[in-house]
Amino acid sequence: MLRKFGKKLSVFMVLVLVVASLSACKGGDDKKNNSTGNEITETVTPSPTEVPATPTPSPNPIDDMTLKEVYKDDFRIGVALPIGYLGKTVLTDEIKSQFNSMTFENSTKPDAILRQAACAAGLPGTYTEPVINLDSIESYMKFAKDNDIAVRFHTLVWHSQTPTWFFTEDYSVGGTKVSREVMLKRLESYIRQVVTLVEEKYPGQVYCYDVVNEAIDPGQGDANGMRKNSLWYEVIGPDFMEYAFKYARQYAPEGVDLYYNDYNCYLKTTQILKALEPIKEAGNIDGIGMQGHISISNSVERAIKAPAVEFTAAGYKVQITELDIGISEESDANLELQAMKYRVLFKKIREAKQEGKINIDCITIWGLYDSASWRQDESPLLYQYRAGKLIRKRAWYGAMQDPSVKAIEL
Ligand code: G3I
Repeated sequence: MLRKFGKKLSVFMVLVLVVASLSACKGGDDKKNNSTGNEITETVTPSPTEVPATPTPSPNPIDDMTLKEVYKDDFRIGVALPIGYLGKTVLTDEIKSQFNSMTFENSTKPDAILRQAACAAGLPGTYTEPVINLDSIESYMKFAKDNDIAVRFHTLVWHSQTPTWFFTEDYSVGGTKVSREVMLKRLESYIRQVVTLVEEKYPGQVYCYDVVNEAIDPGQGDANGMRKNSLWYEVIGPDFMEYAFKYARQYAPEGVDLYYNDYNCYLKTTQILKALEPIKEAGNIDGIGMQGHISISNSVERAIKAPAVEFTAAGYKVQITELDIGISEESDANLELQAMKYRVLFKKIREAKQEGKINIDCITIWGLYDSASWRQDESPLLYQYRAGKLIRKRAWYGAMQDPSVKAIEL
C-alpha cells in the first residue's frame, strides 16, 4: 500500500517539476526585454514543493556581462546624462557597470554655465570677462571620479543653447551687438575660464572637449558651407572656429583631446574637412565627433562608417558622440530591427578599428532610456524605464553582440 502511494507520489512530483520548468521557460519568453535584474514582469512565488533543488541557470550569459567589458580593447562606451539620476540606484548601478565615459546632456553648454545677472551687474569689469558657474555639475563630477568614468565635455561653442545676451554690449537680450574684437575677447575669456576651472576643480577628469559644435551646414551656409544662422558667425565671422580651437589648445592640458562635433557628417564630409584644414595645420584639433542620430532606415556603412574612415584617413581621431537609432513606431518588429542596427553598427566599427581603418576611442549613446530621450517618440535608446525599473531592450543585446540578434541590416 505504502509502496503504491510512494509510486503515485513520485509521479506527482515529476509532473510538478515538469510544470514548474515549463512555466520557467515561458517566463524567459516573457522577459524578451531582459532587465538589469529588476524586470517588470510579475513573478509568482512557487510553493516550497515546486522549488528545484539546484538554482536555475541564468537564461543568457550576456546578462551578466557589460558593454564596457565587451569593448574594453576597442573603445570607451559613453552615455549622455541629464541632471537628476544620482538619487536612483536603479539608474546609477547600471551606469556604473556599463559605461566608462560620460557626457552632460545639457549642463556644460554655454546657457547652463554663463550667468547673465552677474555679467550685467559686474560691468564694466565683466565686459570682456563674463561670469561663469559650473556648480551644477559638482555631484556628477564626483560620481564620475568615484566610479572611474571619464568625462567628455560638450560643448564650448555652439550657435544653439548660447544666450543671445552674451553677444550684446550690456548683456541684455535686446542690446546692441558687440564688435568682432570684443566678442573674440569674450570667446577667449569664456574658454579660458571654463577649461581652467574644470582642470582646477576636477583635475584629469575631462579627457576631451567638443570645442565647436555644428558650425557647418551647407543647406544654409556660406560659400564654404559655414552655418550663417549663428551669432558666432554673425558677430565674429567665419573664422570664429579657428579662434575657438586656438584658445582651447592654449588652455587645455596636454593630452586632452579637442573635437569638432557635428550631425549628418556623411552629408558634409568634404565641407567639414575643408573648414578644419587650417585648424589642423595649426595643430589645434585632434578629432571629429560624429553625432550619430540615425534611424533604422539609415545604412551604417554610408551614414557612419564611410565618413569615419574618411576622417581617419585625413589624420583625425574619431568618436561617435551622440548615438541613438530611432524607430517610427514601437512594434516588436521595429525593436528587433533596431537591435540589429545597433549590433551591426558596433560590429562594423569595431572591425574597422581593428583593421586600422577607423581611429575611434569612444562611442557615446545619447541618453540612457527612451522616455528621457530628446527623440522619445522614436524610442531610440538601449533601455526603457518603467514603474521605477530600468529594462534592457533588445537594442542593448544588439549592442552587446548577442548572437540572438541577427548581425544584418535589412
Ligand atoms: O531646463 C528647462 C526646464 O527648466 C523646462 O521646464 C523644460 C520645459 O520644456 O525645458 C528645459 O529645457 C530643455 C532642455 O533640453 C533640458 O531638458 C529644453 O527645452 C530643450 O530644448 C533641451 O533640449 C536639448 C537639446 O539639445 C537642445 O538643443 C536636449 O535635451 C539635448 O539632448 C539636445 O542635445 C543636442 C546636442 O547638444 C547637440 N546635438 C543634437 C542634440 C539633440 O538635439
